[in-house]
This record gives sequence, structure tokens and C-alpha cells, in this order.
Amino acid sequence: MRAASVSDYRELARRRLPRIFFEYIDGGSYAEATLARNVDDLEAIALRQRVMRDMSKLDMGVESLGQAFAMPVGLAPVGMAGMYARRGETQAARAAAEAGLPFCLSAMGVCDAAEVAATGAPPWFQLYMLKDRGYMRELLGRVKALGCPVLVFTVDLPIPGARYRDVRSGFTGSSGVSGALNTAWDGITHPAWLWDVGLHGRPHSLGSVAGAVQGSRRVTDFLSWVARNFDRTVTWKDLDWVRETWDGPIVVKGVLDPADAKDAVKAGAQGLVVSNHGGRQLDGVRSSISALPRIADAVGADLEVYMDGGIRSGLDVLKAMALGAKACFIGRAWAYALGAGGQAQVARMLGTLRSELAVAMVLTGCANVRDAGRELLDLEA
Ligand code: FNR
Repeated sequence: MRAASVSDYRELARRRLPRIFFEYIDGGSYAEATLARNVDDLEAIALRQRVMRDMSKLDMGVESLGQAFAMPVGLAPVGMAGMYARRGETQAARAAAEAGLPFCLSAMGVCDAAEVAATGAPPWFQLYMLKDRGYMRELLGRVKALGCPVLVFTVDLPIPGARYRDVRSGFTGSSGVSGALNTAWDGITHPAWLWDVGLHGRPHSLGSVAGAVQGSRRVTDFLSWVARNFDRTVTWKDLDWVRETWDGPIVVKGVLDPADAKDAVKAGAQGLVVSNHGGRQLDGVRSSISALPRIADAVGADLEVYMDGGIRSGLDVLKAMALGAKACFIGRAWAYALGAGGQAQVARMLGTLRSELAVAMVLTGCANVRDAGRELLDLEA
């Protein structure tokens, strides 16, 4: 199948990846109500069609935190991308750089920041507050020395949410011989993946935390270390601590409430991402797109307001811009494309988003994406 849409990349990834990884990407927490809401609420928003305007010139570029985006889309941090394609973070980072978009590397990436920076574009770097502050400080120092321009500080994961699909697939909680056999069978029955990632994509560690997890070989050992190291004591004061080591822009990721957004401003963040972690944390919370307008109204003048969650097309990108986002980030869209076929498929998918955004801009009469506002939406619908 030649993929035409994000849902096609999802289907290709489902066929190519071992079940444990596909379900890990695709799933959300608990009953997945928030995961569904993210997509459904975007779909329910009607664009307002306008015709007969000269739309021969479109401007899709935005500038934010000193970074140029060729269109208002960035690649959100996604853990373990190197298990979806060989050295997957470097492949996605290359596709993003070629498309003129920022790539944010997850602290739970298989590749570390040095490996990604070696592609020529130091990535934005995402980090959680870890109990091991000494390790965190050292990591931040390393990332800064590589020239990573922006720190994305994820605040909605002081404790991991339960993801039923990961239990059912055997990704979490399975151990012993039956667990090992299950994983081996999953790999053997996906030969394209086995060749690309299983054999040629090693080491299968989490590069950024490998130094702290001695003597581990399996990716799940690293995940357990990270899970044990999430820090529930974290408060806004900790941003001061982060700033002692990191003097660049800080984007707080995982804000859904305007009161928290105001606190982020007070704490001196340069940006925030309206996000519910793609419906992977607290199930039942509202969709990101429904949280966006109130947050943009409350703090949009004080810091950069981004959003993620449920973006599956260029039409969704324009809806997010119309409701006050400076840019939006995609998670599953690029993870599916990477799993479907590496850098080439990520590049194709980004091209599709761009074409879709162009169609949406032309038919809503929006020549410059920076001017997108609520007048592009048919809010009566
Ligand atoms: C994520 N996300 C995430 N966020 C983060 O801050 N650090 C991380 O390591 C990860 N890892 C991760 C893995 C996978 C497989 C997914 C799907 C997501 C959340 C991600 O950055 C983003 O918030 C959501 O993916 C956005 O929702 P959509 O675009 O997937 O609907």
C-alpha cells in the first residue's frame, strides 16, 4: 500500500512492527477516552470555507524561540524511536531537518543527543525531572555543549499512567521464559523489522540514560530505571534548579489548565505545550485542542503557546493555529511513518501535511499562517 494519509502510515506500521512496539505507539492510558477525544474534538471543528481570493502566494513559515519552522509543525519527543526503525531518532531528525522543522529528542530515545546532533542539526531536547539530580545535571551539561537550542521539560509524568495495551502485549509486566519467548516470537514474525532494527539497529539501549543504568542490555531494563526515577516532588521551583545548568529557552510540556499556564509564566518558562501526553497519562482529561483557546487567551502574549495531541493532518494544523497555537507538534504521526519505513516515509508524511495545510489555507482564505485566527473557523457548526 502506498500511504496517502496518517492513518495509512499507521496501518503500514502495524504490519511491519512487532506487536509490542505498535501497541506502545498506538495506545493510550486506561480506557483511552482522552486519546480518542484529542482526535475527535479536532475533527469536530469546522473550517470556514472562503472562495474567490487571490491565494497564489502562501506563507507557512513561523519563527519561534529563535528557531525557523518552514511550517508550524515540530516533531514531538517520542520514546524509543530507535526500536521502530534502525537508529530511528537520527532518521526522523534528518527528515525533519530536510523539511525545515524542529525535531525534539526524547530523553527515552534509543539514540542520544550526540548521535542525533551528528546528523548536522542539534535537536531540541526533552527531559523529565529525575530523582538522580546529579545525573540530570550532567546530562543537561552534555546536551548544552552539543548546541541543542531548546529544552523541553515534560511535567505531566511525575508518575507513569497505566497503559493496558502494554500489559496485554507483554511489553510491560511480562517476565521469565514465557515473556522472553513471547518477545522473540514477536520479532521473528516481523522479518523486515528483525533485519532492520533487531539485527542492524543495535545497541538497543536508551542512549541518554545508558550511563546511569549499568549492566543492562534490554530496552525494558532502561524503561524500568526511568520509571523508578520519575520524581513526584517536582514543583515550579525546580525550574530555577534546571536553569542553573541550562541558560537556553525552556518549554514546559504537559499543561492543560490556564492556572498552570500562568504559573509557567511566573516560573520564567519561554514556552509551553498544551498537552495531555497524547492521551497516555491521565485518562479522562479534556482534549488538547479544547484546552488550547483558554490557555492561549490567558498567556499567549507572555510566552510561546504550542499544542500537541491528535494532529493527524494539515487541516488539524490550521485548526490549532486558528485557536491560538504558535505551532503544533506531532507524535504518533511521525512514529507511525518511521515504523512504516524510516526516514523516507517520515519525509513523505511531512510533505503530505504540508500539502494539506496549503489546501486548508487556500480554501479558508488564509495567505499567511501567522495571521490564522478564529475567523477561519465556523464556530456555529
Ligand atoms: C510519547 N510522548 C512523549 N512525551 C515526552 O515528553 N517524552 C517522551 O519520551 C514521550 N514518548 C512518547 C512515546 C510515544 C510512542 C508516543 C505516542 C508519545 C508524547 C508526545 O510527545 C506527544 O505529547 C503526543 O504524542 C502528542 O499526541 P499525538 O500527536 O501522538 O496524538
